[in-house]
Amino acid sequence: MEKLTGLKKTRTAVFISGSGSNLKNIIKFSKIKKSPISIDLTVSNTTKATGLQYADHFNIKKKIFASKNFKNEEKKILLLLKKEKIKFICLAGFMKILSKEFIKTFDGKIINIHPSLLPKYKGLNTHGRAIKNKDKFAGCTVHYVTGKLDSGKIIMQKKIKIATRDNSISLAKKVLKQEHKLFLDAIMKIFN
Ligand code: GRF
Repeated sequence: MEKLTGLKKTRTAVFISGSGSNLKNIIKFSKIKKSPISIDLTVSNTTKATGLQYADHFNIKKKIFASKNFKNEEKKILLLLKKEKIKFICLAGFMKILSKEFIKTFDGKIINIHPSLLPKYKGLNTHGRAIKNKDKFAGCTVHYVTGKLDSGKIIMQKKIKIATRDNSISLAKKVLKQEHKLFLDAIMKIFN
């Protein structure tokens, strides 16, 4: 990633599909002076993403692309990203898989947060699988997005201990708390 020059923050879009707690956290961070990014756009693939409320709350442009043919939607998203001069994308609980063509347009400029210690547990239900396998540790990973699901270069990871009383819900809660911190640390790492 290019180093920050002067006081200009990199124009960034956050893609979400759900509750948006990571989005909220990134927006708050983006407003502090040392943040290398500004959040200028929120994209969702569903009207059901309750996290869109944070875009409203913080007065950030939001756009929903919910048609079933997501390939078509991608074209529209790319046009919007260009119009908004977006240079960096954070996927934060975004549940659609972006096409190789899309990723190529933003090569090395898209990062994702995944709730497991990759390469373990790519895909869904990471916490349930960790509990079922009686793992001692769980965690989260921020990585670059490539054409292969949850497989791009790892930027940062945070490991946490799984307690014997943990179930997938309590574990998800614990990991999410760490995700909030890790995402910001990873952004700082990329731009420094
Ligand atoms: C996070 O656990 C993220 O890693 C996963 O979906 C969850 C999104 O949470 N892919 P939120 O929408 O940021 O609250």
